[in-house]
Amino acid sequence: MQHLIRTSDFSKEEILSIFDDAREFLKFKPNEILKGKIIVTLFFENSTRTRSSFEIAAKRLGAEVVSLDVSTSSTSKGETIFDTVANINAMKPDAIIIRHSECGLPESLTQYVDCSIINAGDGKHAHPTQALLDLFTIYEHFNGQTEGKKIAIVGDVRTSRVAGSNRRLLPRFGIDVSFIAPDCFKYEGTDFKHYDKISDIIDELDVIMSLRTQLERHSEIYFESLNEYAKDYCITTEVMGNRDIILLHPGPVNRNVDISDEMLKDPRSKVLTQVTNGVAIRAAVLKKLILK
Ligand code: CP
Repeated sequence: MQHLIRTSDFSKEEILSIFDDAREFLKFKPNEILKGKIIVTLFFENSTRTRSSFEIAAKRLGAEVVSLDVSTSSTSKGETIFDTVANINAMKPDAIIIRHSECGLPESLTQYVDCSIINAGDGKHAHPTQALLDLFTIYEHFNGQTEGKKIAIVGDVRTSRVAGSNRRLLPRFGIDVSFIAPDCFKYEGTDFKHYDKISDIIDELDVIMSLRTQLERHSEIYFESLNEYAKDYCITTEVMGNRDIILLHPGPVNRNVDISDEMLKDPRSKVLTQVTNGVAIRAAVLKKLILK
C-alpha cells in the first residue's frame, strides 16, 4: 500500500510521471479512471484550496467523494482520531485524505488502515501535494529546466509546512532554496541560506514564494499589526521592479501583507495558476495511489 506522507515517498521518476499525468489532466476532459472508487476527506483544519481541489480532482476522475464533517463527527463524543480512521477504513474506501494540526499524525494513521493515506497538511511538518504543485508550476514555467534556478521563500518559514515540504523537494530538482524572514519567523536549521531583507537577494532570483503569516501557530505576538511586517516583506510591484521573476503563494493570501493587490494582478503572479495546477497534480496523485 503506498501512502503520501511526505514528498520523499515518491522518487524523482515517480514525480515526473505524476507531472506527465497532470499535464493530461490540465485538459480537463471527462474520464472514468477512478470510476467505482471512493475517497474520504477528513479535514480537522480549515481549507479552501486543498480540500476542494482534491474533491474536484476525484470527481473529474469519476470517483465518489465522502467528506466527513469533523465538527459533527463522533470525535466530539471522545472517539480518538485513531478509532475514527480505523472505522472509516472498515467501510473500505480507496483512500483517506487527512489534514490535522498534529505533526506526524497521517504517518501514524497508516498502521490503522489498508487504504492509501494522503497527507493534506500536518501541523508545521509537511504539505506534500502543495510542494508538488509548486514544483510543477515552476517546472512548467521553465520548460523543465529547473537545474540552477533560485527561489527565495519569504515570510513565516518557521511554522510553514509549505516551506518544510518545498525545502526538501525543490533541491532534488536542482533548485537552490533560500529563506527571507525577520528573526521571529526564521527557520531554525542551518542547512539553508537566510536573508533578512528581500533586497539582499532579489537580483539573483528566478522565483519568489511568499507565505502567509500563520499567527495561529505562534504563541507570542511579534507585531502590533501585520502592517509593520508588510513594510519589509510584502511583495509589491516596487519590490519586483521589472525583474523577470515569477511569484508564487500557496494561499490564502493576506492581501497587502503578503502580496499587494497590484502585484496579484501582475502577469508574473502565478498564484491562480498554482490553484489550477493543484487540481491536476492531485488528480495525478490519486490515480497513482489508487490504481497503483
Ligand atoms: N494552500 C493551502 O493549503 O490552502 P488551503 O489551506 O486553503 O487548503
